[in-house]
Amino acid sequence: MGKIIEKYKKERDAASLNSSDIGQDVTLMGWVSTVRDLGGTLFIDLRDRSGIVQVVFQNDLLSKEDLELAKSLRQEYVAGIRGKVIKREGKPNPNLSTGEIEVAATELELFNKSRPMPFQISDEIDASEETRLKYRFLDLRRPSLQKAIMMRSKASFIIRKHFYDEGFIEVETPVLTKSTPEGARDYLVPSRISKGKFFALPQSPQLFKQLLQVSGFEKYIQIVKCFRDEDLRADRQPEFTQVDLEMSFVKADDIIDVSSLMLKKVFKEILDFEMELPVKRITYKESMERFGVDNPDVRFEMELFNGNDALANSDFTVFKSAIDGGGIVTGFIVKNGASLSRKVIDDYTSFVKLYKAKGLAWLKKADGAFTGPVSKFVDESFKSFLQSKGIEDGDLALFVADTDISTARTAAGRLRTHVAKQLELVKSNDFGFVWVTDFPMFEKDENSGKLNAVHHPFTMPNEEDLELLESNPLNVRTNAYDIVLNGQEIGGGSIRIHSQDVQQKVFKALGIGDEEAREKFGFLLDALSFGAPPHGGLAFGLDRLMSIMLEMDSIRDVIAFPKTTSASCLTTGAPSHIDQSQIKELGLELK
Ligand code: AMO
Ligand code: AMP
Repeated sequence: MGKIIEKYKKERDAASLNSSDIGQDVTLMGWVSTVRDLGGTLFIDLRDRSGIVQVVFQNDLLSKEDLELAKSLRQEYVAGIRGKVIKREGKPNPNLSTGEIEVAATELELFNKSRPMPFQISDEIDASEETRLKYRFLDLRRPSLQKAIMMRSKASFIIRKHFYDEGFIEVETPVLTKSTPEGARDYLVPSRISKGKFFALPQSPQLFKQLLQVSGFEKYIQIVKCFRDEDLRADRQPEFTQVDLEMSFVKADDIIDVSSLMLKKVFKEILDFEMELPVKRITYKESMERFGVDNPDVRFEMELFNGNDALANSDFTVFKSAIDGGGIVTGFIVKNGASLSRKVIDDYTSFVKLYKAKGLAWLKKADGAFTGPVSKFVDESFKSFLQSKGIEDGDLALFVADTDISTARTAAGRLRTHVAKQLELVKSNDFGFVWVTDFPMFEKDENSGKLNAVHHPFTMPNEEDLELLESNPLNVRTNAYDIVLNGQEIGGGSIRIHSQDVQQKVFKALGIGDEEAREKFGFLLDALSFGAPPHGGLAFGLDRLMSIMLEMDSIRDVIAFPKTTSASCLTTGAPSHIDQSQIKELGLELK
């Protein structure tokens, strides 16, 4: 027992072996990936985190005992093997880095057996996600997940190195804390000592990183877990990781530059992708006009148009009444879209209705003429508009009209991405970055009619808009910026309020009274009154960044132990019931 571990070290990774190692004695330790018995000669593929190497058990090289042991090997048994690297006797395997060689075993130690697997450890598995998450520790043996987790580790290292090189200091902020509003519900932790009181898990370290600026650290960075109890989707987890930064004495450009450079390094070192700097920028307003959304996918064109000037006198009442009602006729041209069937266009119509559009109008151009429901309304003005937008034979034009401009733009913008996906207008391995800047400070909650902060309440309104805080808050703009990659927001930040007075005004605009502000954010208001420097920052969503880089469908695929869409951990069974005694000790009562 213990002979291989006692005698040797695991000095070589399985997949590092190649023909230059022929003749070397090596020690391998790992898992049996496959077993093949070819006419009395036994072969196994041995896998470790680096990959796979073939091992052959030749009768004359091993003791009788070890040979017997080799015959007992099964999939996912864990073994140590000492052997000599030889040229592969059979056909080389061009798909493996180790495909030209094999290791002729001279000693074997079985470290552990395994029950039969609940699913094959291979990237081509067809197991349900539920089974995979239950046995996540086995799922993580699959090469694609191993790669994702290792890439993530590498990315974290590159990110830390970048910020450390730029003079940032990493500071850990508390996990048991007070609510920081980022727009989601808090996860709460009851206090045993202060019965009836609760800690909140941080939705982000926002307030602490601002306090650290007041303390004078100037450049702060943290790779940090954040917790948000919100409805989950493929790009959202209840606990996720931010690359969180904050700087003093800077303007938005400085934060954008240092963050863009970080992305450039990560993409270069991990994917060998050359990201162009400076990254394109558009304002929020322009993004809404050209793409209908604040997270535009800039990898393809199909930009939205505004047909109001050309269509103001249209005979098509749908268009005319939208424009007369203060709304908009928007839409886009699909190159070569004329070949799309009626059924596909009907599906597009159902799609825009999901976003509250009332319908979808369309026309096609073929042989110089227009066809389709709207074609009969094509007068001179409409025609020259279409031509100015570049319509050609074989194209399709889609229109959404609405008296509510944002409804029309949102529906058209979502359809734009949907069509691009469906028509495969985006290449894989392409990355489209854009900074969206100058976000408005507030938006109106449709249900309550109350104002909400678009970014968060600590964002600095533009100097020249400060006077609008009371009179016309919806027109207040800010120095807030999001970084968008392939149509997904991967980060966001802003220049912050550093004056107590302005912060109080913003709280007021948000309907947070003096007393509530004191109670919830008194510590921040205090801090702002003790020489707070001008400051700003940003946070990236590391999980989102990694999942887009590695072209994964879900951020779950870059998280070692993710939660399901119903916010539970299938591996451990969390959340779970707790003992009656614990409940009592916490001073709680369950209904
Ligand atoms: P924000 O709320 O925009 O900003 O969050 C920053 C980034 O974190 C990612 N993200 C998420 N990723 C996975 N699951 C989630 N539930 C989730 N929620 C957010 C997104 C997002 O862009 N304090 C500010 C930052 C700042 O102003 O410095 C903040 O948290 O990629
Ligand atoms: P209707 O006048 O309702 O028969 O609609 C005529 C065409 O215009 C249909 O193809 C509808 O899908 C489309 N349509 C209806 N309402 C809108 C709208 N608000 N925007 C764009 N197209 C619309």
